[in-house]
This record gives sequence, C-alpha cells and structure tokens, in this order.
Amino acid sequence: MSLKLNDHYKNVKESYLFSDIAKRVAAYTEKHPEAKIIRLGIGDVTLPLTPTVISAMEKAVAEMGKKETFRGYAPEYGYDFIRQAVADYYKKFGVTLSLNEVFVSDGAKSDVGNIVDIFGDNTVLIPDPVYPVYLDSNLMSGRRVSFLKASSEDGFLPMPSGLKEDSYLIYLCSPNNPTGAVYNREQLTAWVNFALKTGSVIIFDSAYEAYIKGDYPHSVYEIPGAEKCAVEICSLSKTAGFTGTRCAWTIMPDTLTVDGVVLNKRWARRQATKFNGVPYVIQRAAEAALSPEGQKESEASVAYYMGNAALLADLFTRKGIWFTGGICSPYIWLKCPNGMNSWEFFDSLLENVQVVGTPGSGFGECGEGYFRLTSFGSREATEEAVGRLEKFL
Ligand code: MLT
Repeated sequence: MSLKLNDHYKNVKESYLFSDIAKRVAAYTEKHPEAKIIRLGIGDVTLPLTPTVISAMEKAVAEMGKKETFRGYAPEYGYDFIRQAVADYYKKFGVTLSLNEVFVSDGAKSDVGNIVDIFGDNTVLIPDPVYPVYLDSNLMSGRRVSFLKASSEDGFLPMPSGLKEDSYLIYLCSPNNPTGAVYNREQLTAWVNFALKTGSVIIFDSAYEAYIKGDYPHSVYEIPGAEKCAVEICSLSKTAGFTGTRCAWTIMPDTLTVDGVVLNKRWARRQATKFNGVPYVIQRAAEAALSPEGQKESEASVAYYMGNAALLADLFTRKGIWFTGGICSPYIWLKCPNGMNSWEFFDSLLENVQVVGTPGSGFGECGEGYFRLTSFGSREATEEAVGRLEKFL
C-alpha cells in the first residue's frame, strides 16, 4: 500500500537551474575557501531599495504598530491604492485598466507557476530558450509542451508562422530572459492575431519591460485585440529592486474569455482560495516605487545596471565573441568560445577566473552552446569580472 505522488514531477529535472548553479558554486567554495567569486549568474539585483520606497515602508511599519492604523489580512487581490498605482503606470503605455483587472501578488514567478491551475489539458507553446519556470510548472501539471525553437538566425524571436492552427496556451517573454530579444509592434501583432484567430491565450511576461530602449511595446495591451487573448505578468523585482521584497501583478482583462468563461473571474476564484495577499507594508512600498518619484529613482538604478551591461558588451566586442542582449535587457547572451558547451564554459569560468554565469542550456535545448551574464552586479564586481575575463578569453 502506498500513497500516490504527482508523478509528473518525474518529467522535470531533479533540481531547478539556479539551485543547481548555487550547489556547484558551494562545492567549489568548499574546496577553495579563499576564492573571490564574482556572481553574475542569477539575475538578482544588488542596489538597495530607493529612498522613496524605504520611507513609504517605514511609514507603513509605523502604521502597523498603532491600534488605529493596524491592518490584518490584506485583500487577496491587492488594496485599491496599489491596483490604482498599477493602472496609472499602464497609462504611460496608452493602456487603460480597471482596478479589478489588476491582481497583485508576491512575485511574477508565483503567478507564472500558479496560472497553470486555471487551464486544462492544452498544448502549451513555450519559447526555447526562455525562463525555465514556464516549462517546469507545465510539466509538473502533466501538460503537453511544444517548443517554439529560436536561434540567432531569427534573433531569438520565434514567430507563429508555420504553426498548426490550433488553440494553444502560448508563453511569450519580451524582453526575453535570457536572450534580451524584444518583439517589435509588428511581431507582437502577428502573435496577437494568431491567438485571436485560433482561440489561444498568450501569457505575456513583461518582467524586463523597464529595460526597453526605443519604440518597442512595453505591454502586450499596446497591441489591439490583446485584451481578448492575453494575460500579462509583470513585477517590481528587476525594475525597483524588489527581488527580496516581493511584489508583482497579473493583468486579467475583463474581456478575456475561454469557452464563455471570463478568465478574470477564474483567476479571482483561484487567488481567493490559495493566496492571502501581499503584506500591507510591501504594497505601500510598491505604490511608492510606482509613484513619479519612485519611477525616477528606479530609472537611475536601471541606468546603473545598463552601464554594467555596456562594460560586458564592450569586452565581448573587443574579443570578437558573438553576443546579444545588453540593450533592452540586463542580460548579455553570448556564444561560448572554442566550441564549448554551456556547462563546460560555466566550469571553465568558475575554475579559471571564479566568475559565475548561467549556462544557456538551462533555458532550453536551443540555449546549448550559449551563456548568460547578468549586469545586476555592483559596478566594482562587474569591472573586476571584465578584467579577469579580458586576460582569460
Ligand atoms: C533569472 O536569473 O533568470 C531570474 O532572476 C530568475 C527569476 O526572476 O526568478
């Protein structure tokens, strides 16, 4: 006699990409305790929260300490003040949202992972390479996954042409993690039209929209018709340094239906049952991050990280190593030199120069032979890494 487990877990790799990397680095550190490792692997920010955010948090903490202003359970979809702040933020992109279309959560990763709950057994289209959570969360639920294979030839921007006309759940990430590729209006319109024609739903991950330079859509809702076929997930992690503070949102338009069911209501039902809301202090912090002053401060942080990206980009240009990214994205995506595969290059950098990056193959088969470096390190660490790589490569 034995309980049954969810055997779909057998279909995912034993350990999550970034846990794998952390384990390898820990093993190296144990053998070489003196090594000064530079971590340009996981895209974790290093600049502190900005003054506007901190003062909003301090004020909210003080409120929590007084009987008159103390708050208990937060509304599961977010207080109106933060839903309003998100809706106001989208006005920048010419997108109008009503408050009930904004669902505030503790992270894009949670929403990406949880959204599988409200869909049935569809074929899921997932770009390759891309953020591994889309694939793993669908595999864990036993979904059928097909890959939208991308390469340097298509600029790592897979398109719907050639796909069988069917209803799919389609994941898009723009700017893409890890490649930094960003869909232009025409390309995103092609995806939206494909989804409308086939009754598909797009899950659009815009976590890196704050890094876009130039005339690219920041939100899928800039494309007419997307409000009938797309969900959007975004976060303050990379924009306002909230990786450890945790606040994100999912947009579920009222006009998005599947088989007559309004997805907004489905998601509301799911969240009300399984989620108890983001802490009040964090929602106040997020509201401050989205205020005009907060946005200005975040832009300065983004500019700082992009300065790091430029240092890395200059290095690979000098070395004649093919790379992309670093323009609309905080990641540099490079071709591993000397025909090395992704993990070989990872080991080589760790052993020889103690620089940690992320193997491209961790983002999908099409990422094999590539490598990702993040520009979220400090300026000093990035300069030090560039110096070491300059001598080594
Ligand atoms: C990454 O390095 O790809 C991201 O930091 C992971 C994440 O956002 O969960």
